[in-house]
Amino acid sequence: MCGIIGYIGDKQAQPILLSSLSRLEYRGYDSCGIAVSSSGIEVYKDAVRVAELAKALLQLDGTVGIGHTRWATHGEPSQVNAHPHLDCNGNIAVVHNGIINNFQRLKRQLIGEGHNFVSETDTEVIPHLIEKHYDGNLEKAVEAALRDVEGSYAIIVLMAGEPKLVAARKDSPLIIGIGDRENFVASDVPAILDYTDRVIYLEDGDIGVVTPDSIKIRRHGKEVQREEHKISWSVEDAQKGGYEHFMLKEIREQPKVIRDTLGGWVSVAEPAVDLAVMRGGLESMLILACGSSYHAASIGKYIVEELLSIPVRAEPASEFNYFTWTLAKTGAIAITQSGETADTLKAIRRLKGVGCPVLAITNVVGSTASRIADQTIYTRAGPEISVAATKSFTAQLMVLYWLALSYSKVDIRRLADLIMGLRQLPGKVQQVLDNEDIILEYANYLSRYKDVFFIGRGINFPVALEGALKLKEISYIHAEGYAAGELKHGPFALLGSDTPVIAIVAQDNTREPMLTNIREVKARGSPLIAVAEEGDEAIKELADSVITVPRVDALFSPVVNTVALQLLAYYTAKYRGCPIDFPRNLAKSVTVE
Ligand code: G6P
Repeated sequence: MCGIIGYIGDKQAQPILLSSLSRLEYRGYDSCGIAVSSSGIEVYKDAVRVAELAKALLQLDGTVGIGHTRWATHGEPSQVNAHPHLDCNGNIAVVHNGIINNFQRLKRQLIGEGHNFVSETDTEVIPHLIEKHYDGNLEKAVEAALRDVEGSYAIIVLMAGEPKLVAARKDSPLIIGIGDRENFVASDVPAILDYTDRVIYLEDGDIGVVTPDSIKIRRHGKEVQREEHKISWSVEDAQKGGYEHFMLKEIREQPKVIRDTLGGWVSVAEPAVDLAVMRGGLESMLILACGSSYHAASIGKYIVEELLSIPVRAEPASEFNYFTWTLAKTGAIAITQSGETADTLKAIRRLKGVGCPVLAITNVVGSTASRIADQTIYTRAGPEISVAATKSFTAQLMVLYWLALSYSKVDIRRLADLIMGLRQLPGKVQQVLDNEDIILEYANYLSRYKDVFFIGRGINFPVALEGALKLKEISYIHAEGYAAGELKHGPFALLGSDTPVIAIVAQDNTREPMLTNIREVKARGSPLIAVAEEGDEAIKELADSVITVPRVDALFSPVVNTVALQLLAYYTAKYRGCPIDFPRNLAKSVTVE
């Protein structure tokens, strides 16, 4: 959601804050701001991107400061609603990620006590509460203020004349970066990678007091120790490396990501985790996630059902949280790239609360999901910066394939074939990437349309959903993913020469009905692009155009098909001149419900 950064050390804070904010923009980018403290606090903020703020900014003198990139929840993106927010006297500045649920009541109360508010945000109550409780000790005032607050928060507090940063979290991520005569506080690792690879993950309820050479963490008024972690991501991993967009870099990294993610496991006889649900101790499986991770979960359903023959339900975590659910003998997997998606975390907590074992699949070491789940498997995708998920999705699929194969009930020959097929996937994905010229051509063609349908069947139905999601989120073309057989139950009314249909054709039992669906679409006059395996000659007769993908076992077809659709979405958005890495209204990490 929002990105936050704090710096305290022996250097000028402003350039460090701005550079860290630019690394955090993927968390939110409708406005941004910084506050720097020397004799007093100076704040500069606006409804602009970080680069524009940096251009407009005068040199603010000071070696301690905080910064924020915003993804608006309360109040439109505007200068006054941008963070940092201040108390009445402008002595206390706060940046916040999360939502204060009871802010309206607190605001009324504080106004009644004489406090002046200027913004529409929920955040603004925090500096006023700290001001109200301050009696000479900042951390105690923060602690008292947070006792009044209901909701989620990661905050950094700066006070004039106090050479320290006070940081606190509940249900929103926050880390402390350890430097040499300088320290950092941030919502996410990429923000501080230029300066340090040593981090401490704060836990819910922690209050960190950070000076240039000390870090003290308090919890319920007592000092606690937190482990230091070393980050293995490099600065280069989090930079564009010559690519125009992070998204293209991340798409192209997928062969390596597959190798790295699979590389941790030697043989299927050595399962990545000991999972009761996979061993047969439980009767069904639930896979929960949001966004693209939910599409990976939906593909996971087909993989696990085919290889393990147990019933699996894949559900968006945001919906699952409101189901009446009978949980007997179910094991759960929660998939989340960031490990911080609010709905997914809520689902994990709910499941754990009723004794259901949860395995988290996440890309971020030390993320909240990894800490609250019973077990965790890490994808090895490296930092994913572009808002639209690409390589993290593929890495999630790799974990699902490997897990299912580890516990598979298929015969030994089929198992050997599948393992071989999995090991060949980096090369197959590379072939898709090498075929991008043809995809570029179709992207150019697609970029002129307003509405597009993606259709798939079976394990490629979620691929159609993911293909449509990629296209709509970065190119702003209205795109719908549909189960191919359902198209005739309504969407046919929309088909015609101005509505292209992209059909994903797999070499499994869905192929024949899919060819029928393609004929039906063609009869309604829609231009049809097929994504099909090389050597499928029949499809060339039927479709207007074909994006060919290399031959793989149908179980792995979602991988090559999705990569082709990622490229199609990327180049379509590029032809349309869209801000690909930072689509409007979106954020990489959605830490509110
Ligand atoms: C946001 C991102 C998506 C992502 C989804 C779930 O909407 O823009 O790319 O798929 O959140 O995120 P998670 O970190 O839980 O996988």
